[in-house]
Amino acid sequence: MMIYKNVSLKKYNTFGLDYKADCMIHLENEQEAIEFFNGNVVWNKPFLVLGSGSNILFTSNFKGTILYPEISGIKIEDKDLNKGEVIVSAGAGINWDDFVAWTVDNGFGGLENLSLIPGKVGATPVQNIGAYGVEVKDQIVSVRTLIVNDGSIRVFENNECEFGYRNSIFKRREKGRYLVTRVYYRLAINPQMNLIYDSLKEEVNKIGTETLQNTRQAVINIRRNKLPDPEIIGNAGSFFKNPVVNKSVAGSLKNRYPDLPVYPDQEGYIKLASGWLIDRCGWKGKRRGDAGVHEKQALVLVNYGKATGKEILDLSEEIKESVRDKFGIDLEREVEVVGAI
Ligand code: EPU
Repeated sequence: MMIYKNVSLKKYNTFGLDYKADCMIHLENEQEAIEFFNGNVVWNKPFLVLGSGSNILFTSNFKGTILYPEISGIKIEDKDLNKGEVIVSAGAGINWDDFVAWTVDNGFGGLENLSLIPGKVGATPVQNIGAYGVEVKDQIVSVRTLIVNDGSIRVFENNECEFGYRNSIFKRREKGRYLVTRVYYRLAINPQMNLIYDSLKEEVNKIGTETLQNTRQAVINIRRNKLPDPEIIGNAGSFFKNPVVNKSVAGSLKNRYPDLPVYPDQEGYIKLASGWLIDRCGWKGKRRGDAGVHEKQALVLVNYGKATGKEILDLSEEIKESVRDKFGIDLEREVEVVGAI
């Protein structure tokens, strides 16, 4: 366990914001995390668990302790040749895309469409990450956690995680009560590609046959082409969720805007594209100082260098207001704000 005081958060958040935390504790394995929550370690309250900071917007210094789990290890837990599947577990601190690359290299299917999503394994069930027609909940078997009150272990089976669109029990009512230490995924030994997204299928076919490797490469190509690399321009992927509205709201908008993208959702509901709505309000490529709207994808807010968290938040509020005025739709943040709002 490493304990650091007065730490710059600049390299711990993908917006590249230079705030500070009073204290940061790196937890290298589950045992260290248990000791921490057992009460043997002195720390400043409150605490915040940070993965790779790829879905977070700090708006001030963090007066408390940041927990940084570095729990590693990928393990094949079970192989069932009859069912054609393996169960693989991964430590919460593993870089997500390294894990996806490992699954693809081993010929295990299910996660390839989620290639290149920034973040760590431990955040994937919290956020129920998704892209190109796949959500990680489709592959998760269970999530091993520690109860932060006393350091005891609790395993959540998939159906206890209350997964929803970019949502789970860990984000909702149980927020802050559990620390994810390890995630178990069910993967296919003879995988079928999921290419229901036309743009993905086209890109795969451009590369070659419909294999795991080619699907992963196609996702990487599409993402690299559209989404800014946080190493170069600070950002946290989609800033807002895509709004889900009832059919009548979607129907009347579609009458007014025939090219409005609409995606079927649960019975009676339609998912809209925030990126399209924001784009239609004229925001793509706009800047307010160093806070800006990405020029290729209006759903991504960027830090050109010296923006503060507050400036990015203010820009996002301005965007929200104009989408509300023009379309009557309230956007909800996907990115989590830590600090004053
Ligand atoms: N669009 C525009 N202008 C824009 C951006 C998008 O007109 O500036 C239109 C597109 O042409 C398309 C529609 O909006 O018709 C949807 O855009 P896109 O396919 O790029 O996907 P998205 O809905 O913006 C979602 C996820 C992404 C994920 C992609 C691919 C959310 C909030 N975002 O984006 O996830 O990679 O689909 O599946 O659900 C993330 O969560 O951080 C993220 C990047």
